[in-house]
Amino acid sequence: MSTKIVPLAESHFDALRLVLDLVARERRYLAFLRAPPAEQAFEFYRNIVANDLCHFVALTDGEVVGWCDVLPTHGESRIHMGTLGIGLIASARHQGTGSSLMEATIAKAWAKGLSRIELTVRADNLNARALYERMGFRMEGLHQRAFLVDGEFYDSYSMALLRRDDARVSRPADPQEKP
Ligand SMILES: CC(C)(COP(=O)(O)OP(=O)(O)OC[C@H]1O[C@@H](n2cnc3c(N)ncnc32)[C@H](O)[C@@H]1OP(=O)(O)O)[C@@H](O)C(=O)NCCC(=O)NCCS
Repeated sequence: MSTKIVPLAESHFDALRLVLDLVARERRYLAFLRAPPAEQAFEFYRNIVANDLCHFVALTDGEVVGWCDVLPTHGESRIHMGTLGIGLIASARHQGTGSSLMEATIAKAWAKGLSRIELTVRADNLNARALYERMGFRMEGLHQRAFLVDGEFYDSYSMALLRRDDARVSRPADPQEKP
């Protein structure tokens, strides 16, 4: 069995949506409880490929078994950051693939100039929290009752990873400030 980490390509779209659907339907990990309709998902994926965004898939013996992405959010003051998402089908977990996916995706995010990666994780998702901590993410805060699934509330945490070698501090010029 061999696993490769490769950038998302059009040939992965169908299988990736199925992987997302499987993980979402577990109802324990993601904000989604099922995958979006195919056309909506494919439009989202096409935008990722067209803009060379940070998105990798794991292929085991050529089959898509998971993904990791770091995607931009809105707002000019947030262009330095991205939000991380990750998921693997159940049979692909606990083999180091999550770590490999994260390493590839984070490396690309830093290479593209990002300096902050943030994520949200359900408080009861101990496997994901342990992986994020191993990758250097730090806890930033608790969101109470952030998920509601089958009538149960779940808290979540926000976590972030900063690119520590980034010494740039930039701010808009202040017209009142004397040179
Ligand atoms: C969270 C998730 C992506 C982690 O991926 P993963 O591939 O299981 O993570 P890793 O294999 O890299 O690390 C997990 C375990 O494998 C072990 N491991 C790491 N490298 C390994 C290797 N080469 N061989 C065997 N085991 C290995 C780790 O020590 C760790 O062990 P532990 O779980 O007993 O503590 C995966 O569990 C998943 O998809 N979960 C469901 C979706 C989800 O939670 N998404 C995140 C929402 S915030």
